[in-house]
Amino acid sequence: MSLKVYINGEYFDKKDAKISVFDHGLLYGDGVFEGIRSYNRLVFKLKEHIDRLYESAHGIMMRINLSKKEMITSVVDTLKFNKLNDAYIRLIVTRGIGDLGLDPRKCKNPSIIIIADRIRLYPDKLYREGLRLITVPTPRNIPEALNPQIKSLNYLNNILAKIEGINSGYEEALMLTASGYVAECTGDNVFIVKGNDLITPPAYLGILKGITRAAVMGIGKKIGLDVKEDVLTRHNIFTADECFLTGTAAEIIPVIGVEKRVIGNEKPGKITLRLMKEFRELTKKDGVKY
Ligand SMILES: Cc1ncc(COP(=O)(O)O)c(C=O)c1O
Repeated sequence: MSLKVYINGEYFDKKDAKISVFDHGLLYGDGVFEGIRSYNRLVFKLKEHIDRLYESAHGIMMRINLSKKEMITSVVDTLKFNKLNDAYIRLIVTRGIGDLGLDPRKCKNPSIIIIADRIRLYPDKLYREGLRLITVPTPRNIPEALNPQIKSLNYLNNILAKIEGINSGYEEALMLTASGYVAECTGDNVFIVKGNDLITPPAYLGILKGITRAAVMGIGKKIGLDVKEDVLTRHNIFTADECFLTGTAAEIIPVIGVEKRVIGNEKPGKITLRLMKEFRELTKKDGVKY
């Protein structure tokens, strides 16, 4: 059966799933989205993703014409309809169809799109052996201009950083704030382990407040780590015992180096491996069943 895509309450075959060229999501990146995952018919942290989606929409002053409850039902129905046990769900809400001007008042109804498919962000080998990052020149958007806490359809900032990483031969790029502090990677949050401390940059610096990040902070507390949100410099990464990234698509991936520098003993760290194991366990029990 071909993949069925939800668009504004109707299902379309993948090849027929199309939206208007006058949709401001396409014309201006005017819209918001979520990446959500289901494991063995459990949608992981669905409520948190829906809350963030509505918060992002509020941030760009866009009213979604479905209640949160209806949105949850639509996501679950799309998964059921596609008979997917394990899936990556892309939930998109654009400003909708308008004219060629910027004016969002011309867009009467947001377009809601739900795609349920599969994803593998990095090759398996990197989960076993660890990933190397490169710090790229493009800084993360300054929060005063476009707050990275809004998960908007405008991802050019991250894409430019990704291109810079790839052009230098690296799979993933470390992005700094405009002041030079560690922000996050192109689609993942970053953590370090130093002694018993588990540290990640605070959201006010201008990063996406990751849902995997929050889950990992919760696990960290549960297993007795001192979990902190603190400003980090590249020096903190270079001298960390361990480093890893978190994200819905990436889950938890160990980082063993930045540029030619080595982090810890250049192997996925003990605490990282423990967190990966605990995270896998959490995905088996935390979620909305379908
Ligand atoms: C820029 C950025 N940072 C961090 C994350 C990780 O967030 P989450 O764990 O909610 O997927 C993502 C993924 O959506 C992202 O795009």
